[in-house]
Amino acid sequence: MKKIAFFPGDGIGPEISAAARAVLETVAELAAMPMQIEEGLVGGAALDAHDDPLPEASLQLAKTADAVLLGAVGGPQWDARPPAQRPEQGLLRLRKGLDLYANLRPAQIFPQLLAASPLRPELVQDVDILVVRELTGDIYFGQPRGIDVVDGKRRGFNTMVYDEGEIRRIAHIAFRAAQGRRRKVCSVDKANVLETTRLWREVVTEVAREYPDVALEHMYVDNAAMQLIRYPAQFDVLLTGNMFGDILSDEASQLTGSIGMLASASLGEGRGMYEPIHGSAPDIAGQDKANPLATILSVAMMLRHSLQQEEWADRIETAVNQVLDQGYRTADIASPGEAVIGTRSMGEAVVAALRAGA
Ligand code: NAI
Ligand code: MG
Repeated sequence: MKKIAFFPGDGIGPEISAAARAVLETVAELAAMPMQIEEGLVGGAALDAHDDPLPEASLQLAKTADAVLLGAVGGPQWDARPPAQRPEQGLLRLRKGLDLYANLRPAQIFPQLLAASPLRPELVQDVDILVVRELTGDIYFGQPRGIDVVDGKRRGFNTMVYDEGEIRRIAHIAFRAAQGRRRKVCSVDKANVLETTRLWREVVTEVAREYPDVALEHMYVDNAAMQLIRYPAQFDVLLTGNMFGDILSDEASQLTGSIGMLASASLGEGRGMYEPIHGSAPDIAGQDKANPLATILSVAMMLRHSLQQEEWADRIETAVNQVLDQGYRTADIASPGEAVIGTRSMGEAVVAALRAGA
């Protein structure tokens, strides 16, 4: 029996995750996979109910589950709260509490939606990038950090730090991912200036020897930022530390032009959390307008990475492509003049395509 922790969250979270849940339940039924989905509270919903963005019961639910599915958290009604009492804090604590050190973000082009990219179609049509970003180390967590006063002047400081164990484990994730793709890893650093990333380059090179079937290339982060716009189709797996990955994965996501289409996985030892890359979109919440496909594609990543159901992951991705081929569009991915459907209908179309293909 697989146990899935299910956190719908806030804003459009409940709408998009209901659609994704229906897809997951359809897969469980068609694949005859025993599954139990247990719902919990995180973010604003948890603040309202328990005055805590991550109640202990929710953390325990996530820790004892085979995988976590999350909608999105946050919204203006909680903006006035102090930082520790904000919905987003619940999400950060969840990632940290599960030690989810590997963030996987595919930036994939949907040929049906090429017109949505800010770049020319011929530049992006072959783009299929997987950003593998380290998520629990680097300058975001290094000590010492702070703001103090030296000689009467305020001074801010953070510490960029990685030990070789942290680098090695994320490198293995990237190389293994590349083996299932086009067998190329581009490791991003600033080894010409920063010692931390000089070690990064050394350790990644050592790990690469265990994967002779994967080609390794190193690239400085400034060049990588440029190459992502100049010739994005050259990349397969892009391996980065926490800060460079934060910036480059947002850049890469925009190549595809549609935030409502992009999924993510955050992985730790034997653990995985799956969520769309977008937020809770309060501006369209409760209106059956949100695109559920990013969350549905996150379910595909869950089946692939946490539930060992590669074939069903592929089938969900095929079903999503089929509904796009058939012309189904939510408002965010519709071109002018195209008919628009809602969140629920889009979810139902994917379920129908899955059933038709089974
Ligand atoms: P957002 O991603 O929620 O929305 C940005 C824009 O994209 C909005 O115009 C929204 O309507 C649109 N959009 C987002 N997802 C969509 C979808 N599935 N279908 C159609 N349109 C979609 O980012 P924003 O507005 O900066 O943040 C809103 C709230 O979400 C804030 O409270 C923020 O802190 C939170 N947030 C939560 C995240 C998470 O739970 N992982 C990540 C990012 C933001
Ligand atoms: Mg970011």
